[in-house]
Amino acid sequence: MRILHIGDIIGRTGRKAVTTFLPKVRQEFMPDIIVANVENASGGFGITYAIYEEFRRLDVDIMTTGNHIWDNRETEGSIVKMDNLIRPANLPEGVPGNGFITIEKNGQEFTVINLIGRVFMGLSDCPFRKFDKIKEQVNDGFIMVDFHGEATSEKNAFGYYVDGKVGAVVGTHTHVQTSDERVLPKGTLFQTDVGMCGALNSVIGMEKEAPIERFMKGMPRKFEVEKRGELMFNALFFEYNDNSEITDFKRLSITSGD
Ligand SMILES: [Fe+2]
Ligand SMILES: [Fe+2]
Repeated sequence: MRILHIGDIIGRTGRKAVTTFLPKVRQEFMPDIIVANVENASGGFGITYAIYEEFRRLDVDIMTTGNHIWDNRETEGSIVKMDNLIRPANLPEGVPGNGFITIEKNGQEFTVINLIGRVFMGLSDCPFRKFDKIKEQVNDGFIMVDFHGEATSEKNAFGYYVDGKVGAVVGTHTHVQTSDERVLPKGTLFQTDVGMCGALNSVIGMEKEAPIERFMKGMPRKFEVEKRGELMFNALFFEYNDNSEITDFKRLSITSGD
């Protein structure tokens, strides 16, 4: 089976990067399943049902999210309609939506679990213990974890914690792609962060001016998605065999100049 995981898609620019580069990537890598992190797809903050449908039309099979899941007011109500979208499984008890999803493709089960870290992040339960609980319910097929976290150390620790128990752990949230993709000693494919889709010359997808001012003066500034300039598309492709062993993987970073 061939899987493509697309990094955080940032606003209209990120969606444009996906429509620009995904057809070429699909042709070259022929993924059976496409996963994408969409927590910033709506104006840089959150997701709407209309944008969810847009991605479904682009054949995105599974959508993951993170700390921005509730940024758009409508999501609390519309998440129940978004069957192929998951939010972090270890968010506090009682929030709407599902934290993992299993789909069937080519007669095989493929599960994605979305978890969120606790270092420099908001309120959540322990992602390690939550994983153990979910793992008891999912035994068949290939499991991938989208670990949404700020700290590289937490993601690295989680990778070793689940090494040999899942097929792949792909990090999201920092919007900066790491070049550490590899198969861990017990067979789990791991990448600390898959990166983002959006404007190349931006501060993690946003116009540069406001973050620079905020860092320098500490004054409140509204962040806007960068709409100018070159596009960037970051993703991780991987393939596994019938025994769920990783047989191939490649980190993708494409810009409009390529
Ligand atoms: Fe993000
Ligand atoms: Fe995030």
